[in-house]
Amino acid sequence: MAPGFPVPAVGKNGPMDIRIGLVGAGFIGGKHLESLSTQDGVRVAAVADPRADRADALAARVGARAYPGWEQLLHAERLDALYVCVPPHEHGAVEDAAVDLGLPLFVEKPLAPDLATAERLGERIEDARLLTSVGYHWRYLDLVERARDLLAGAPARMVRAAWLDKAPRVDWWARQEQSGGQTVEQATHLFDTARVLVGEVTGGSAIGSRSPGGPGDILDVCTAALRFESGAVGSFSNSCLLPRGFRIGLELVAPGLGLWLTEHRLVVSDGDGDSVIERQVDPIAAEDRAFVSAVRGEGDDVRASYAEALRTHRLVTSVAAAAAGDGVVRPPAAPVAR
Ligand SMILES: NC(=O)c1ccc[n+]([C@@H]2O[C@H](COP(=O)([O-])OP(=O)(O)OC[C@H]3O[C@@H](n4cnc5c(N)ncnc54)[C@H](O)[C@@H]3O)[C@@H](O)[C@H]2O)c1
Repeated sequence: MAPGFPVPAVGKNGPMDIRIGLVGAGFIGGKHLESLSTQDGVRVAAVADPRADRADALAARVGARAYPGWEQLLHAERLDALYVCVPPHEHGAVEDAAVDLGLPLFVEKPLAPDLATAERLGERIEDARLLTSVGYHWRYLDLVERARDLLAGAPARMVRAAWLDKAPRVDWWARQEQSGGQTVEQATHLFDTARVLVGEVTGGSAIGSRSPGGPGDILDVCTAALRFESGAVGSFSNSCLLPRGFRIGLELVAPGLGLWLTEHRLVVSDGDGDSVIERQVDPIAAEDRAFVSAVRGEGDDVRASYAEALRTHRLVTSVAAAAAGDGVVRPPAAPVAR
């Protein structure tokens, strides 16, 4: 344990009083704060952000203390878990501190803009056997469960995934060094969901391009053709050139079955015709409940641990590298057998 940090509070507050620290008071930090604060026996006790206005505003909503940085927060607070909702390039030292403290960790995707940082943290987290959850919230959609059930009887032979959207208006997002680019930062949800529904990717090819006047220094159009272990094939395209969200989801083709899955609905096309299923579950609330329940030692429904998210991160970083380089997608295997 790092000297100077208080010991984690698990067991001291009792099972009904889970104290959470939130690092990063931006868009998604606010969403988690909102959903955590509706759970019984959960308290967001502290919020850290170098933007004092943001830390203060979120903290005030739930009567938490605000800090200018996670270092001060961890020195001052006794916590049961830490949420890390910072931009991709800010990952690293904060996770290291959580590992030193043995503090259960919820980390927003992507794990980092690069692979090396995530591999290093993954190894530390694995060695420490730390409880982790990563914000691949599509995994908690009832629609994904339904699609998985339908595909159990007729495995997917093809997936066609698209994330065609605007560039979010945050300064770090369109900077390659800071976000890793759209495939890594955003379309990663599609690759992760494809891993759940179709299986592992063995290889393929990818190309990308920058458009005149495109945002920042990232590839603003990118497309990949991939093959899966099962023999299924897939195409994955992303662009951030549009004025608003245009098409975000996955189409799946199986013998006698077509699916169109978005974050909000599932269209099922089979021998009986087409039907539309609306989602009944708020996936962010569901992932927060699953994590808190695991922190309490009561549940094991965390669907993307750090190790599992790392498999998706290996895939998206290999697609992004191929699109920017020689075009060949070679998803790396785990660096060491675990
Ligand atoms: N799961 C999802 O669907 C989803 C949705 C949105 C964002 N995200 C992810 O969450 C992360 C943050 O995205 P966002 O939209 O909230 O960005 P944001 O820019 O709105 O918020 C990030 C916040 O982190 C703060 N910050 C930066 N460095 C920090 C540090 N060292 N310590 C504490 N705070 C720090 C910034 O000041 C900012 O307020 C990204 O990785 C993004 O991909 C996930």
